[in-house]
Amino acid sequence: MDDFFSWLERSSLGEAVRTTPMVYSSLESVHILGIALLVGPALAFDLRLLGVGRQLLPVTAAARHLLPLSRFGLALAVMTGVVMFVSGAVAVGNSGAAPWKLGLLIVAGVNVAAFHWGVYRGVAAWDIDVPTPARARMAAVVSTLVWCGVIAAGRLLAYT
Ligand code: HEM
Repeated sequence: MDDFFSWLERSSLGEAVRTTPMVYSSLESVHILGIALLVGPALAFDLRLLGVGRQLLPVTAAARHLLPLSRFGLALAVMTGVVMFVSGAVAVGNSGAAPWKLGLLIVAGVNVAAFHWGVYRGVAAWDIDVPTPARARMAAVVSTLVWCGVIAAGRLLAYT
């Protein structure tokens, strides 16, 4: 794996990111903006699934407004994250936090897919003013914990 990581790092993209002033720090800034756009709306939606604003806000309206923002934030975080990874692949790839971050991102993806293909199909029955089903509340708890874990693992990449 180390050979692959150092090949990535020595690629022209890796060299360019490392040697051009301000590029890495700009990527980090956009990474953080992406995280904010991803995790903020995701947690707001999770709170609605847990019952906050139940009388005011239909779950479907919350989903329509918040989840496209989350998807846009994810796209920004993934694109900038991959480029930052290429420029420092040996250190980041060997960080103890890297498998946690990757593993938690996979768990987050599976949780989103299970929610949308599962309990969310029946949302018409619990759109507004009724308690959400236990499976929806469980998905919200998992989502909240997992996104917090991804942020912690991302921050730890630089230290472990
Ligand atoms: C495929 C997706 C992603 C990749 C490849 C990736 C990769 C990276 C890399 C290479 C760094 C820089 C580490 C360093 O400077 O030592 C980083 C930082 C970070 N990442 Fe990601 N990331 C991805 C997605 C995400 C997501 C979705 C989140 C949060 C929900 C996240 C949270 C963070 C955090 C909090 C930091 C630290 C930022 C800082 O302190 O400046 N990352 N990521």
